[in-house]
Amino acid sequence: MIYQVYLQSFADGNADGVGDVAGLRSRIGYLSGLGIDAVWITPWFRSPLRDAGYDVADYRAIHPRYGSVDEGRELIDECHAAGIRVILDIVPNHTSSDHPWFAAALNSPPGSAERARYHVRAGRDDGTSPPNDWLSVFGGPAWTRVDDGEWYLHLFDSSQPDLNWDSAEVRSEFEDILRFWFDLGVDGFRIDVATALVKAPGLPDLGYPDGAFLADLTRADHPHRDRDEVHEIYRDWRKLADSYDPPRMFAAEAWLDDPDRLSRYVRPDELHTTLNLYYLKSAWTADGMRRAIDASIAATSGVGAPTTWALSNHDVERVVTRYGRDDTRRRPGVSGPELGPVDERLGRRRARAAALLTLALPGSVYVYQGDELGLADAHVPEQARQDPIWIRSRGRRWGRDGARVPLPWTPDGGSFGFGDDGAWLPQPPGWGAHAVSSQAGDDSSFLELYRSALSLRRAHPALGGTGEVRWCEAPRDDVLVFTRDPGFGCVVNFGPAPAPIPLDGRVVLVSDHGTGEGEVPAHGAVWLDLRPEDRA
Ligand code: GLC
Repeated sequence: MIYQVYLQSFADGNADGVGDVAGLRSRIGYLSGLGIDAVWITPWFRSPLRDAGYDVADYRAIHPRYGSVDEGRELIDECHAAGIRVILDIVPNHTSSDHPWFAAALNSPPGSAERARYHVRAGRDDGTSPPNDWLSVFGGPAWTRVDDGEWYLHLFDSSQPDLNWDSAEVRSEFEDILRFWFDLGVDGFRIDVATALVKAPGLPDLGYPDGAFLADLTRADHPHRDRDEVHEIYRDWRKLADSYDPPRMFAAEAWLDDPDRLSRYVRPDELHTTLNLYYLKSAWTADGMRRAIDASIAATSGVGAPTTWALSNHDVERVVTRYGRDDTRRRPGVSGPELGPVDERLGRRRARAAALLTLALPGSVYVYQGDELGLADAHVPEQARQDPIWIRSRGRRWGRDGARVPLPWTPDGGSFGFGDDGAWLPQPPGWGAHAVSSQAGDDSSFLELYRSALSLRRAHPALGGTGEVRWCEAPRDDVLVFTRDPGFGCVVNFGPAPAPIPLDGRVVLVSDHGTGEGEVPAHGAVWLDLRPEDRA
């Protein structure tokens, strides 16, 4: 299991209201007690933080707000001593506009080598309109004009200019950055927006009507997504990772709707895994989840790669919130009240069942910090919101702040144990009820459910292995039943009434208590040990 640390909201060690490396180091005991295998730390590099660090100004420095490279090295060593691997987040599609390369591009004339590291060019209509019709994922055009009249491309915020990956200098710089962190002991990287690096020659129009904020990603020959040439970059990165002992690893962030296209990133000579955003987006229905599981396994096993699973991350609503709605799909571009009311009690029951379903699957599971506490999205008052999505859409889209509110560690205190001086995003009243210390030792808590599931996942021979998912006959349409060899069974009930358990074995974990023997609770799940008693 890979635990995603959203650094600025995990734990604050120096009392400035922002999480940091010192805070993370002070909580390694918590992480190893949870039974994780690795941490993925979201970007900690020097940055003006206009997109929470996904706007990097210096890829070889840790932002002083978070710590120093020396502290980073100590953290890596301490994690390794605790048996935890460390995965960082590399942002290769764009730099920050504060990066020295971008400053040099703006200070150099059109056509210069400095400008060629980015996509900077003349506009249309006498230069007064952007060079093409691409839109920013965060809202508005993907182009901003500079003083001398040229325009630069940014698929995200205007403070995130896209790099030009046709440039040999860009390619060698990133290999050098990877080496810098690998040499420090980092075990791998999650690759931000891994599908977008290569753009079609000439940057042709997408041809979508105005307002299509993120155009159809399934279309063939998309001019800035999933182009075949991007794979060359990852083949080179793979060679670099394999030159280390032990070899280093990569996980791609790739929002592609087609599992087969996705699997191309994990061919044997490319990346090791992709984040499974297809599973994350699925509706919480027996049909939807089964389809997502089958498609994900088929796509990755076709190229011999492990499958990964995730229910949420820092870019989407927390799973308790999404599953508390009538429509449980992830609906990009829709936010706030447009999504409909949330029943958090129901969301929490479903999220507990989803944790058991997910942790029973073969492959690696990514857990976003706070999901193990059953946190819901917090309501962040408008004046406190910081996400560029909120800012660029002028309040039309709420953005991602609700899923990024600092963690509660204790039931009370200024910031519920997050740190000694408040929290950079306001924590709602009642946040302390979900605190780590309130849940620890309470068998009915979310945290203890995660701990038990993770410890069984290590102990049971079927769960640690690669044994396939074998679907079995279910008592109803809204129930999923599967087994894995040797001797493991999982039953998930998506419906509002308890269902009979159709497998013969001992129940070893149940998502919610209070249901009759031999039944799986409504909106619940059970794990069964199917081995004869004397072999368990
Ligand atoms: C990825 C990150 C997201 C960021 C964006 C731009 O999708 O996960 O948080 O805003 O890339 O770098």
